[in-house]
Amino acid sequence: MLYLMLLIILIVISFSFVILVGAPYLPSFSYQIEIALSLLELKPGDTVLDLGCGDGKFLRIAAKQGLKVIGYEINPILYLVSWLSTRRYGDNVKVIFGNYWSKTLPPAEAIFVFLLPKFMTKLDAKISKYQYRPVKLVTFAFKVPIRKFIKSKDNVFLYQY
Ligand SMILES: C[S@@+](CC[C@H](N)C(=O)[O-])C[C@H]1O[C@@H](n2cnc3c(N)ncnc32)[C@H](O)[C@@H]1O
Repeated sequence: MLYLMLLIILIVISFSFVILVGAPYLPSFSYQIEIALSLLELKPGDTVLDLGCGDGKFLRIAAKQGLKVIGYEINPILYLVSWLSTRRYGDNVKVIFGNYWSKTLPPAEAIFVFLLPKFMTKLDAKISKYQYRPVKLVTFAFKVPIRKFIKSKDNVFLYQY
C-alpha cells in the first residue's frame, strides 16, 4: 500500500511540477509533426532537437525520415517512455533527461518545440544565443512574440535564427 501511494505521488509530481518550467505533457498529433518536418525541409542525416520530447513521438517520426534527433525531457516517466520507444533507432536518437533551459544545446540544423506562450520570449532569448546558428525553429501552436515567422501551416510556425 505504501509503495502504491509513493508511486502515485511520484506520478502526480512528475506530471504537475513541470508547468513551472515549461509546457505540461500534451503530445502533438502525428500529422502536426509531419507538417513541422515538411516546413523544416531537412536532409537525411541532419540533426533536430525536440525541447520537451514527451513520449518521444516527434523523435520516432523524425528518425523514420532518416534524421538524427535529440530529445530533452524533464519528466522521469516520459523520459523512460521516450528512451525505451526509440532504442530501435540506435545512435540516431538520443534522449537526455533534464531541464533544457539549463542545458547547452548541441549542434543541430533545427529545433522543435511545443511550449506555452509564457515561455516563448525566454525561448527566443535562448535560441538567439545558440552558438550553432544558423538554425531553424519550428513551434507548434504558439508563435514567438516580436519575431516574424517565415512560413506557417495549420498552427505550426517556422523561424530562422
Ligand atoms: C506539450 S508536451 C510536447 C511533447 C512533444 N514534444 C510533442 O510535441 O508531442 C511538452 C513536454 O515538455 C516537457 N518539458 C516541459 N518543460 C521542460 C523542461 N524545462 N525541460 C525538459 N522537458 C520539459 C514536458 O514534461 C512535456 O513532456
